[in-house]
Amino acid sequence: MKKIPTIIFILGAVVFLAIAIYPSIPRKSDPNTIPVATTSIANLSGEKISMETVVLNNSEESCYTIINGQVYDVTSAITSHPGGKFAILKMCGIDSTEMFTKKHGESEKAKTGLEDLYIGDLE
Ligand code: HEM
Repeated sequence: MKKIPTIIFILGAVVFLAIAIYPSIPRKSDPNTIPVATTSIANLSGEKISMETVVLNNSEESCYTIINGQVYDVTSAITSHPGGKFAILKMCGIDSTEMFTKKHGESEKAKTGLEDLYIGDLE
């Protein structure tokens, strides 16, 4: 019968240790434990960005586009764009000035949305 308190004590110790250790277990979403920007080639605001970099970021995972000589990382817009993901996917890795201005040249909302995605100027 002495066994039951011992088992309860051991179980308690295991639960306590698990709770104590849990915060220090590295998680995939923790930016400090995984290499940053595995799919982005360059990501510094105001930087000069080459055409090659833009062309390399031509996928759903990392989508750069050029509008009026400025480079935008529009990856996040793929899932949030009110006009659907395919409109944005068509812009990846290319100069989409005409595409964007034809559709949104007059839309303040679209232009403001784009401003937030600016990462640099075309080299
Ligand atoms: C990163 C670039 C873009 C941003 C930030 C953006 C933003 C927006 C926003 C805010 C709307 C809501 C309606 C409005 O206020 O105008 C919208 C709708 C829409 N967008 Fe875009 N857009 C982008 C690129 C494009 C492109 C390249 C196309 C197609 C060539 C496109 C096609 C549409 C369509 C079809 C709608 C549905 C509503 C409408 O006809 O106005 N968008 N977009």
